[in-house]
Amino acid sequence: ADATGLEETHILVTAGPTHEPIDPVRYLANRSSGKQGFAIAAALARLGARVTLIAGPVTLDTPEGVTRIDVETALEMQAAVEAALPADAAIMVAAVADWRVEGAGQKIKKGAGGPPVLHLVENPDILAGLARSPLRPRLLIGFAAETEHVIDHATAKRARKQVDWIVANDVSGDVMGGAANTVHIVTANGVESWERMPKDAVAARLAERIAAALR
Ligand code: C5P
Repeated sequence: ADATGLEETHILVTAGPTHEPIDPVRYLANRSSGKQGFAIAAALARLGARVTLIAGPVTLDTPEGVTRIDVETALEMQAAVEAALPADAAIMVAAVADWRVEGAGQKIKKGAGGPPVLHLVENPDILAGLARSPLRPRLLIGFAAETEHVIDHATAKRARKQVDWIVANDVSGDVMGGAANTVHIVTANGVESWERMPKDAVAARLAERIAAALR
């Protein structure tokens, strides 16, 4: 066995967006493609981890050696995360919808009443919940998609959510859906900024880091 790898570890990865139904035919969504999360799951599996990938609605192939669980909504993602525990590490890459539509029932009809008003309610923060769980993985990593003050927001997020690392990315450009990413790794030891590189390369480097941390 490869002594520098992730053999005998179980690692949870969330990826992609969530879809929040407005009614049976409409939903709220975001621009997450799932590419970065899928690349991380693939890289962890290559290092020998048993990987459970909890994926929102995306059009990506399941990486080799990865167990994939498909979900649609934030509430389904939360339930799938809880069901997949325990895990040695969790990397929460999903762009979970902050809100869902309250009381999404029958198809909303166009009519004399004018446009409908959607009542939104907050979704649970899956990552923050995991940080407080008795089954908290010993390495808990969150992502932060920001458009400004990237490092400041990521540092604050790390403290607020009580996670070990935040991987911050600037999504003001073409990161969402694109093939490359510029990330900053925020840990207890400070901030490390990586050059812009393909999402696969970010994933490989992050997987090596995770292996070193779990060793
Ligand atoms: O608060 P914000 O959405 O910026 O936090 C992003 C991080 O938290 C990501 O790791 C994301 O996967 C996770 N998250 C979550 N559940 C939510 C919102 C965010 O797990 N409802």
